[in-house]
Amino acid sequence: MAETRKLYIKTYGCQMNVYDSERMAEALGGSGYVQTDRADDADMILLNTCHIREKAAEKVYSELGRLKGLKAAKPDLKIGVAGCVAQAEGEEILRRQPMVDLVVGPQAYHRLPDMAARLDAGQTALDTDFPEEDKFERLAERPKAARGPTAFLTVQEGCDKFCAFCVVPYTRGAEVSRPAARVLDEARDLVARGVREITLLGQNVNAYHGAGPEGDAWSLARLIRALGDIEGLARIRYTTSHPNDMTDDLIVAHGEVEQLMPYLHLPVQSGSDRVLKAMNRKHDAASYLRLIERIRAARPDILMSGDFIVGFPGETDADFEDTLSLVRAVGYGQCYSFKYSARPGTPAAERAEVAEEVKAERLARLQALLTEQQRAIQDAMVGRVVPVLFEKPGRLAGQMVGKSPYLHAVHATAEGLAPGDIRDVRIVESAPNSLGGVLAGQ
Ligand code: SAH
Ligand code: SF4
Ligand code: F3S
Repeated sequence: MAETRKLYIKTYGCQMNVYDSERMAEALGGSGYVQTDRADDADMILLNTCHIREKAAEKVYSELGRLKGLKAAKPDLKIGVAGCVAQAEGEEILRRQPMVDLVVGPQAYHRLPDMAARLDAGQTALDTDFPEEDKFERLAERPKAARGPTAFLTVQEGCDKFCAFCVVPYTRGAEVSRPAARVLDEARDLVARGVREITLLGQNVNAYHGAGPEGDAWSLARLIRALGDIEGLARIRYTTSHPNDMTDDLIVAHGEVEQLMPYLHLPVQSGSDRVLKAMNRKHDAASYLRLIERIRAARPDILMSGDFIVGFPGETDADFEDTLSLVRAVGYGQCYSFKYSARPGTPAAERAEVAEEVKAERLARLQALLTEQQRAIQDAMVGRVVPVLFEKPGRLAGQMVGKSPYLHAVHATAEGLAPGDIRDVRIVESAPNSLGGVLAGQ
């Protein structure tokens, strides 16, 4: 057994990076690393980066600059960059910041133990390949850490859609689905370790088409139904979906699979058909609205969530008004909205940009509307009784926080509540970002 060393991982970006950071910690466990939550205590610092918006690479370089002092004080400290910036920048990182020891792209994480050995031999290690071998299979061989009642599980990775603004197809690579049996094994293992809610992850999770046991491709709906048969798994969620992959069987599953929670993140990006076309989204506003009608017919109480980009190149005031109209037509319970940010290497980066003040003004107007909708839906929860999966202690003594089926954060104070408990809670108050409740019957 190698000597024990401390690993600090800082995770940026999406939920898949959270999942990946857990796998990286497990992969490095075999090289003697245990996780710490203090950077100044670490023998290795890994930045798991995101490239989606703004000057992502520049932010990583300034973060690396801040780590210089730690490295000077502890020359044996290893510094690594993982994630989507590592994939996009590659060798450039080692050139611009020579104190970096390790650069690893998302498809090479299973090779981390070999890379750690190279670092121990005083070398640097760079791997941004898209290897043939099965990353997930190799990562799954590693001993697992203890965990709380909720977990992410990557079932699909990469994207073939090439929206004109997006770096993901370049940083994560082509769309790949994991075989159903492997996903089910990983889910059973999580449940055996106390997990009660699993969120299936993929950049295009509803495009899932993993090999089934008979060699036929399983849809996401079929996978969800099989997960629903796992005893002890109380809740299933999935994210992120593309409107064009929202198949009939998945919509039907929302009405039939009890464990599938009534929350759906279905980004539309814009309400203008002209902009959607320029974005290469391959759906229009009307088809999106019809889709939501069908989803609501299957599951009337579903809470809709989405993503929006304002100020995409060529977006006019009229286009933006179309986005506001679409938002009014849908009624979202939760949304993410962003100013368009040109990403190097994407088709939209070649186009003339909308002025910064215009973007800022549109974002403020959109966010005001989204916040209003979110608040109204949240306030309407007051008086209702909903099952809450409690996850961790809250800020006040005796308080626990968890999630409603609609993914609202809910806090309640009661004796004997433990992480992993699912209890009926009567919602009594609605604050900006959470709900307060009391156990039903108390
Ligand atoms: N695969 C998902 C999410 C991808 S990234 C999907 O297809 O919906 C998450 C969100 O970031 C996107 O939905 C989009 O709203 C936003 N985003 C992506 N690229 C962006 C860019 N260049 N500028 C601003 N926002 C962007
Ligand atoms: Fe990016 Fe579009 Fe793929 Fe989503 S569907 S990851 S926005 S290219
Ligand atoms: Fe960011 Fe990569 Fe996720 S760019 S959003 S970390 S897929």
